[in-house]
Amino acid sequence: MAKVLVVYYSLGGTTKRVASALAKLTGADIEVVQEVRPRYRTPWGYFRCILDSLRKRHAPIEPLHHDPAAYDVVVVGTPVWADHISSPIRTLLADRMAGAKRIAAFCTLMGPKAEIAFAEITTLCGQPPNPLTSFREKDVESGSASEAIHALAREVSEDAA
Ligand SMILES: Cc1cc2nc3c(=O)[nH]c(=O)nc-3n(C[C@H](O)[C@H](O)[C@H](O)COP(=O)(O)O)c2cc1C
Repeated sequence: MAKVLVVYYSLGGTTKRVASALAKLTGADIEVVQEVRPRYRTPWGYFRCILDSLRKRHAPIEPLHHDPAAYDVVVVGTPVWADHISSPIRTLLADRMAGAKRIAAFCTLMGPKAEIAFAEITTLCGQPPNPLTSFREKDVESGSASEAIHALAREVSEDAA
Protein backbone atom coordinates (compact mmCIF):
# COMPACT_ATOMS: atom_id res chain seq x y z
CA MET A 1 0.00 0.00 0.00
CA ALA A 2 1.24 3.49 -0.89
CA LYS A 3 2.65 5.47 1.99
CA VAL A 4 1.56 9.07 2.57
CA LEU A 5 2.94 11.49 5.16
CA VAL A 6 1.07 14.68 6.08
CA VAL A 7 3.31 17.32 7.68
CA TYR A 8 1.87 20.63 8.77
CA TYR A 9 2.27 23.71 10.92
CA SER A 10 -0.78 25.39 12.43
CA LEU A 11 -1.03 28.34 14.79
CA GLY A 12 -4.81 28.62 15.06
CA GLY A 13 -6.01 25.11 14.21
CA THR A 14 -7.36 25.52 10.66
CA THR A 15 -4.40 23.89 8.92
CA LYS A 16 -4.46 21.17 11.57
CA ARG A 17 -8.11 20.43 10.75
CA VAL A 18 -7.38 20.01 7.06
CA ALA A 19 -4.23 17.97 7.74
CA SER A 20 -6.06 15.68 10.14
CA ALA A 21 -8.91 15.12 7.69
CA LEU A 22 -6.47 14.37 4.87
CA ALA A 23 -4.50 11.94 7.02
CA LYS A 24 -7.68 10.13 7.98
CA LEU A 25 -8.91 9.92 4.38
CA THR A 26 -5.57 8.70 2.98
CA GLY A 27 -4.47 6.54 5.92
CA ALA A 28 -1.39 8.75 6.19
CA ASP A 29 1.06 9.20 8.99
CA ILE A 30 0.82 12.74 10.32
CA GLU A 31 3.36 15.04 11.93
CA VAL A 32 3.13 18.56 13.26
CA VAL A 33 6.16 20.80 12.74
CA GLN A 34 7.36 22.02 16.14
CA GLU A 35 9.28 25.24 16.48
CA VAL A 36 12.33 25.41 18.72
CA ARG A 37 10.91 28.72 19.97
CA PRO A 38 7.13 28.24 19.71
CA ARG A 39 4.93 31.23 18.97
CA TYR A 40 1.51 31.86 20.47
CA ARG A 41 -1.71 33.61 19.51
CA THR A 42 -0.75 36.84 21.24
CA PRO A 43 -0.09 40.30 19.77
CA TRP A 44 3.66 39.58 19.94
CA GLY A 45 3.14 36.13 18.39
CA TYR A 46 1.21 37.62 15.47
CA PHE A 47 3.80 40.36 15.09
CA ARG A 48 6.55 37.72 14.89
CA CYS A 49 4.58 35.92 12.15
CA ILE A 50 4.29 39.08 10.09
CA LEU A 51 7.92 40.11 10.60
CA ASP A 52 9.11 36.62 9.67
CA SER A 53 6.97 36.68 6.54
CA LEU A 54 8.00 40.13 5.38
CA ARG A 55 11.67 39.22 5.88
CA LYS A 56 11.19 35.67 4.55
CA ARG A 57 12.84 34.35 7.69
CA HIS A 58 13.34 30.70 8.50
CA ALA A 59 12.29 29.51 11.94
CA PRO A 60 14.36 26.82 13.66
CA ILE A 61 12.31 23.64 13.95
CA GLU A 62 12.70 20.40 15.88
CA PRO A 63 13.83 17.25 14.04
CA LEU A 64 11.03 15.34 12.31
CA HIS A 65 9.97 11.98 13.72
CA HIS A 66 9.17 10.70 10.23
CA ASP A 67 11.59 10.54 7.29
CA PRO A 68 10.07 12.19 4.17
CA ALA A 69 12.22 9.94 1.97
CA ALA A 70 10.37 6.88 3.29
CA TYR A 71 7.01 7.96 1.77
CA ASP A 72 5.54 7.91 -1.72
CA VAL A 73 3.94 11.33 -1.19
CA VAL A 74 4.52 13.99 1.45
CA VAL A 75 1.65 16.48 1.85
CA VAL A 76 2.77 19.78 3.40
CA GLY A 77 0.24 22.15 4.99
CA THR A 78 0.83 25.75 6.00
CA PRO A 79 -1.15 28.85 6.95
CA VAL A 80 -0.58 32.03 4.92
CA TRP A 81 1.01 34.90 6.82
CA ALA A 82 1.21 38.32 5.15
CA ASP A 83 0.79 36.62 1.76
CA HIS A 84 3.70 34.22 2.39
CA ILE A 85 4.04 30.74 3.85
CA SER A 86 4.63 30.28 7.57
CA SER A 87 8.28 30.43 8.60
CA PRO A 88 8.40 26.91 10.14
CA ILE A 89 7.23 25.48 6.81
CA ARG A 90 9.79 27.63 4.97
CA THR A 91 12.46 25.85 7.03
CA LEU A 92 10.85 22.45 6.46
CA LEU A 93 10.75 22.87 2.68
CA ALA A 94 14.25 24.32 2.48
CA ASP A 95 16.05 21.94 4.83
CA ARG A 96 14.08 18.83 5.75
CA MET A 97 12.62 17.36 2.59
CA ALA A 98 15.73 15.64 1.25
CA GLY A 99 14.86 12.51 -0.67
CA ALA A 100 11.12 13.19 -0.81
CA LYS A 101 9.79 11.38 -3.88
CA ARG A 102 6.76 13.55 -4.41
CA ILE A 103 5.48 16.64 -2.62
CA ALA A 104 1.89 17.87 -2.50
CA ALA A 105 1.01 21.04 -0.61
CA PHE A 106 -1.89 23.11 0.63
CA CYS A 107 -2.26 26.52 2.24
CA THR A 108 -5.04 27.78 4.46
CA LEU A 109 -5.91 31.45 4.44
CA MET A 110 -8.62 34.03 5.07
CA GLY A 111 -8.62 35.64 1.67
CA PRO A 112 -9.16 34.30 -1.84
CA LYS A 113 -5.61 34.35 -3.22
CA ALA A 114 -2.57 32.27 -2.31
CA GLU A 115 -0.46 33.06 -5.39
CA ILE A 116 2.53 34.49 -3.52
CA ALA A 117 2.56 31.56 -1.11
CA PHE A 118 2.21 29.13 -4.04
CA ALA A 119 5.17 30.76 -5.81
CA GLU A 120 7.29 30.53 -2.69
CA ILE A 121 6.45 26.85 -2.17
CA THR A 122 7.24 26.12 -5.82
CA THR A 123 10.62 27.86 -5.55
CA LEU A 124 11.53 26.02 -2.35
CA CYS A 125 10.50 22.65 -3.81
CA GLY A 126 12.27 23.30 -7.11
CA GLN A 127 9.06 22.46 -8.97
CA PRO A 128 5.32 22.91 -8.38
CA PRO A 129 3.97 20.44 -5.84
CA ASN A 130 1.37 18.12 -7.27
CA PRO A 131 -1.25 19.00 -6.30
CA LEU A 132 -0.83 22.52 -4.87
CA THR A 133 -4.04 23.98 -3.51
CA SER A 134 -5.58 26.21 -0.86
CA PHE A 135 -8.54 26.28 1.52
CA ARG A 136 -10.24 29.31 2.97
CA GLU A 137 -10.55 29.29 6.72
CA LYS A 138 -14.27 30.06 6.65
CA ASP A 139 -14.90 27.08 4.35
CA VAL A 140 -12.94 24.74 6.60
CA GLU A 141 -14.87 25.99 9.61
CA SER A 142 -18.27 25.74 7.95
CA GLY A 143 -17.56 22.32 6.46
CA SER A 144 -18.04 23.55 2.90
CA ALA A 145 -14.39 22.68 2.12
CA SER A 146 -15.15 19.04 2.78
CA GLU A 147 -15.61 18.01 -0.86
CA ALA A 148 -12.40 19.81 -1.89
CA ILE A 149 -10.52 18.05 0.93
CA HIS A 150 -11.89 14.71 -0.27
CA ALA A 151 -10.78 15.59 -3.82
CA LEU A 152 -7.28 16.41 -2.60
CA ALA A 153 -7.16 13.12 -0.69
CA ARG A 154 -8.15 11.25 -3.86
CA GLU A 155 -5.48 13.04 -5.91
CA VAL A 156 -2.82 12.34 -3.32
CA SER A 157 -3.81 8.68 -3.16
CA GLU A 158 -3.76 8.42 -6.94
CA ASP A 159 -0.36 10.13 -7.01
CA ALA A 160 0.82 7.60 -4.49
CA ALA A 161 -0.61 4.55 -6.23
C1 LIG B 1 -0.03 36.83 11.36
C2 LIG B 1 -1.08 36.42 10.37
C3 LIG B 1 -1.05 36.88 9.08
C4 LIG B 1 -2.03 36.49 8.16
N1 LIG B 1 -1.94 36.95 6.86
C5 LIG B 1 -2.87 36.54 5.97
C6 LIG B 1 -2.80 36.97 4.60
O1 LIG B 1 -1.90 37.68 4.18
N2 LIG B 1 -3.77 36.56 3.75
C7 LIG B 1 -4.79 35.75 4.16
O2 LIG B 1 -5.64 35.42 3.34
N3 LIG B 1 -4.88 35.30 5.43
C8 LIG B 1 -3.93 35.67 6.35
N4 LIG B 1 -4.00 35.22 7.63
C9 LIG B 1 -5.05 34.28 8.00
C10 LIG B 1 -4.51 32.85 8.04
O3 LIG B 1 -3.81 32.52 6.87
C11 LIG B 1 -5.67 31.87 8.20
O4 LIG B 1 -6.41 32.23 9.33
C12 LIG B 1 -5.15 30.44 8.32
O5 LIG B 1 -6.18 29.54 8.03
C13 LIG B 1 -4.63 30.16 9.72
O6 LIG B 1 -4.20 28.83 9.80
P1 LIG B 1 -3.96 28.13 11.21
O7 LIG B 1 -5.24 28.27 11.99
O8 LIG B 1 -3.65 26.73 10.89
O9 LIG B 1 -2.82 28.83 11.89
C14 LIG B 1 -3.04 35.60 8.56
C15 LIG B 1 -3.08 35.13 9.87
C16 LIG B 1 -2.09 35.52 10.77
C17 LIG B 1 -2.14 34.99 12.18
